[in-house]
Amino acid sequence: MNVLLLGSGGREHALAWKLAQSPRLARLFAAPGNPGIAEHAEIVPLDPADHRAVVDFCRRHAVDLVVIGPEAPLVDGLADNLRATGFAVFGPGKAAAQLEGSKGYTKDLCARYGIPTARYCRASDRLAAEASLEDFALPVVIKADGLAAGKGVIVATTAAEAEAALGEMFGGGGFAGAGAAVVIEEFLEGEEASFFALTDGTTILPFGTAQDHKRVGDGDTGPNTGGMGAYSPASIVTPAIAERVMRDIVEPTVRAQAERGAPYAGILYAGLMLTAQGPKLIEYNVRFGDPECQVLMMRLESDLLALMLATAAGRLAEAEPPRFSDAAALTVVMAANGYPGEADKGGAVAGIADAEAEGAKVFQAGTRDEGGRLVASGGRVLNVTARAADVGEARARAYAAVDRLDFPGGFCRRDIGWREIARADAGQNRFSP
Ligand code: AMP
Ligand code: GLY
Repeated sequence: MNVLLLGSGGREHALAWKLAQSPRLARLFAAPGNPGIAEHAEIVPLDPADHRAVVDFCRRHAVDLVVIGPEAPLVDGLADNLRATGFAVFGPGKAAAQLEGSKGYTKDLCARYGIPTARYCRASDRLAAEASLEDFALPVVIKADGLAAGKGVIVATTAAEAEAALGEMFGGGGFAGAGAAVVIEEFLEGEEASFFALTDGTTILPFGTAQDHKRVGDGDTGPNTGGMGAYSPASIVTPAIAERVMRDIVEPTVRAQAERGAPYAGILYAGLMLTAQGPKLIEYNVRFGDPECQVLMMRLESDLLALMLATAAGRLAEAEPPRFSDAAALTVVMAANGYPGEADKGGAVAGIADAEAEGAKVFQAGTRDEGGRLVASGGRVLNVTARAADVGEARARAYAAVDRLDFPGGFCRRDIGWREIARADAGQNRFSP
């Protein structure tokens, strides 16, 4: 099988690493890729936004499967254009990708099918939004409707903050097209967790759990980021909770998409709030999480390519269900100084072989080859990932590897996994699917 993998982050490096282990793989192409992905794939100069060029490439290289890593090309309809020309794709088409592309779409779907989520209202102009604010207590959550690269959610603790957030979203101050409409919703109390499911539109298979660390600083302080670290499994998602998430959230969503003539094929990532009333959906993503994918791939024992082919072909019912190791995996994100603001680019990155000698795997997220020298090229630069019997041991191994890296222009959080380790210290049961 010839596979084309689209994307250039740590998520795609982890996918490339896992795909390369498949006995069914002939050639792996990747675009735009990065130096880590290049260890497993032939990097090709293709822009995922240029659908015509992607289709032409697939024809010329007899590509059997296209794996679309990030959300933007999915929301943009790349999967539809590939399917229309006869190619198998891992990832939903444009209509189903609305689950991530429009927060209002997802909220309306939840309302219609009784899927538990925060109470909400949609507004497409500022006055209507301001009027709706009165129906919500503080804190209140205000979200830009469209894709906003992780910057479209504001939790306002005062009325003045809420109004300022609306001003920013409708004033074009940084949210541009994404701010054309907003969702205002009730603030949910609880602990967040990520739940993944593989689906071909009909068959749905749970695909692991994880917890992410969104804030930049230790102790969950400072601004939000794309994620500073993650671990899997998340024991707070007990088997009973996982069953509820499947029954009350994931299954009705996948059925609704099929009923609407827009079946969902790919990985569905449910961001959950585990509240006192049970799990509620915060949001969907139509792709793997980054860096959650890195820890899932470290634990996955099945042939990823076989699962992706079955998903793309609508034959997941006949596939061998995914198997995950009982071990835990944890990843620490090394970011360039300045992230999540303007990050310092161009800083030298070295010591990866030394770090890996500690028993970790270093996935590359924002790196570039500069005349044979590896340098930082993005905010999140490396994902130092380890697997061990439990989260505590995986954390020790990951940080031992972090300490062998030579990346003076970078930093990381030092407390990845703290919730899970606190639970383990309190003697609570660790394991979940
Ligand atoms: P997003 O950028 O869509 O991933 O959302 C960012 C974060 O905002 C989430 O991970 C939650 O921490 C928080 N958030 C979003 N919606 C709610 C809500 N209704 N209640 C509490 N926190 C929320
Ligand atoms: N780590 C969060 C995300 O991928 O959306």
